[in-house]
Amino acid sequence: MKRLILASRNRHKLNELRTFLRNIPLEVVAIDEVAPELALIEDGETFRENALRKARAVFKRTGELSLADDSGLEVFYLNGRPGVSSARYAGVGTTDENNNQKLLAEMQGVAPRRRGAQFHAVLALVGKNTEEFAEGICLGVLGEEPRGTNGFGYDPIFIPDGFTRTYAELSAEEKNQISHRSKAFAKMREILLRHLSSDVGV
Ligand code: IMP
Repeated sequence: MKRLILASRNRHKLNELRTFLRNIPLEVVAIDEVAPELALIEDGETFRENALRKARAVFKRTGELSLADDSGLEVFYLNGRPGVSSARYAGVGTTDENNNQKLLAEMQGVAPRRRGAQFHAVLALVGKNTEEFAEGICLGVLGEEPRGTNGFGYDPIFIPDGFTRTYAELSAEEKNQISHRSKAFAKMREILLRHLSSDVGV
């Protein structure tokens, strides 16, 4: 079976991606299983640029079909921040809790109707003759305080549209049905299946 190398070291993202990839006839391997020393640099200005850089780096190193995710939370009141800086919003090497606290502090006193936000994910697939992208967005609002223990990152402070619970109060199955990453993956799934059936660039 052909292999697909996942260009991520975030175990939560890896778990979500592995779930989405369950029914696709590819052997899914995380980058740490093949090239733990490889640096995955995210210094671009857009999710697309970062996802492409990571997937290209992994393809260059392994010569195998590579999939990267770059994603983050965009708060409209903050003109899209934290955006591409989501992982390091409170500083390089910081914790999810610190990022959440920083964001909540910036949004303190902001009325509910102005707390709109979206999670945004871009997936990049790089292979021999291919560079393809898929994008997904999940709209919602920022909560007033962290709630829930599932998931990761900003999950405890993001309430997706149509729900009263945060992402972190949803089960993994519920989150995976509506999340930005699942929407991006639904498109990537078609791309992967097309490539597998035509064998172009895989
Ligand atoms: P990246 O590795 O630069 O793409 O970092 C993505 C960052 O965005 C993560 O560290 C989280 O802070 C945030 N993020 C992306 N997707 C999610 C999600 O599904 N839930 C919560 N936070 C997320």
